[in-house]
Amino acid sequence: MIVGVPKEIKTAENRVALVPAGAESLVSDGHTVLVEQGAGLGSGFSDDAYRAVGASIAGSVDEVWAKADMIMKVKEPIESEWKRIRKGQIVFTYFHFAASEPLTKAIIASGCVAIAYETVQLSTGELPLLTPMSEVAGRMAVQEGAKYLEKVFGGSGILLGGVPGVLPGEVVVIGGGVVGTNAAKMAAGLGAHVTLLDISLDRLRYLSDVLPPNVDLLYSNHHNILETIAKADLVIGAVLLPGAKAPHLVKRADLKLMKPGSVVVDVAVDQGGCIETIKPTTHDQPTYVVDGIIHYAVANMPGGVPRTSTLALTNATFPYAKRLARRGWKQACRDDPSLFLGLNVIEGKVVYPGVAEAFGLPVADPQTLV
Ligand SMILES: NC(=O)c1ccc[n+]([C@@H]2O[C@H](COP(=O)([O-])OP(=O)(O)OC[C@H]3O[C@@H](n4cnc5c(N)ncnc54)[C@H](O)[C@@H]3O)[C@@H](O)[C@H]2O)c1
Repeated sequence: MIVGVPKEIKTAENRVALVPAGAESLVSDGHTVLVEQGAGLGSGFSDDAYRAVGASIAGSVDEVWAKADMIMKVKEPIESEWKRIRKGQIVFTYFHFAASEPLTKAIIASGCVAIAYETVQLSTGELPLLTPMSEVAGRMAVQEGAKYLEKVFGGSGILLGGVPGVLPGEVVVIGGGVVGTNAAKMAAGLGAHVTLLDISLDRLRYLSDVLPPNVDLLYSNHHNILETIAKADLVIGAVLLPGAKAPHLVKRADLKLMKPGSVVVDVAVDQGGCIETIKPTTHDQPTYVVDGIIHYAVANMPGGVPRTSTLALTNATFPYAKRLARRGWKQACRDDPSLFLGLNVIEGKVVYPGVAEAFGLPVADPQTLV
């Protein structure tokens, strides 16, 4: 099979879908790997690094799309890429179809086989191709929060770890899933005092066994949230209600309880945010201030650390890509129920119910198509 890796062209996207280690493995399986010139540069992988493991560098993006049996990407194809997608071509990437009807229609019209990272799902319910990005965002939330607490960025001038003789900073993490747990670990590692709130008692029980002693676990309700944010230097929003908008757990009026110059990092901003005053920002202009509280709300946090994010993402995506290349999409999906759930659109037919529902489209049974 020819596996094509175009350069990501969405604004500020520096990740790449395949690293040289993955290319080497595909080449040793007998596949041809065609990487667009410069595709890996944003993540620190030169064309020579791909050449060294036997991949070919394509001079043009058209060549990659025209030749590849399977396209590996990171972000959903953007409009200029739609016309390049070929009938029957496998496109393995994040799609987030429900967020864009034009994209959905374009993929239906292309006749490709769209396998979406975000709907590949393990029997435990875990979304293994979203987990690594939540890990990155959770860890980064503390790094960014610590930065914006510095005076020069308008923060209150608190060092999260304190020093001997000075109390550490207070970090409140709302939501104890992948993002929240990673944030709590990082903040605790810096020496901050952390309070993590979640509504799942089972999750809190589990976290009490695995998190260090400078993390307190608290049941999440309005009363406890207000009490903790009043003491917080950094509040991290990390709530997810599957398939729904995040609930606004901190209202604008609640901000006045917080100390001026404190920081809110709402990682859940991509689902509407759990802080009422949050609105999405970008890496160019990541923060704004409301009622004296610094708000950080970058909707694509992993994009800020593309080297780490690319490695984390491809560690998770590559085993699926290898099987798709080796067995073809039909057999690979028949063999693996998790990958099967990644099928969203097959040669003009929507097969993922959530996507069909979003736009009132008919849904086909993927079992009849593989
Ligand atoms: N901004 C970014 O770049 C970025 C990157 C990755 C993930 N995210 C977002 O971060 C959010 C969290 O993702 P995740 O992977 O940790 O999800 P997750 O499903 O692993 O965890 C969500 C947690 O929220 C808890 N929760 C639900 N309602 C709650 C409430 N009222 N109070 C407290 N906790 C509550 C759940 O019990 C669960 O433990 C999602 O919105 C995700 O899309 C954003």
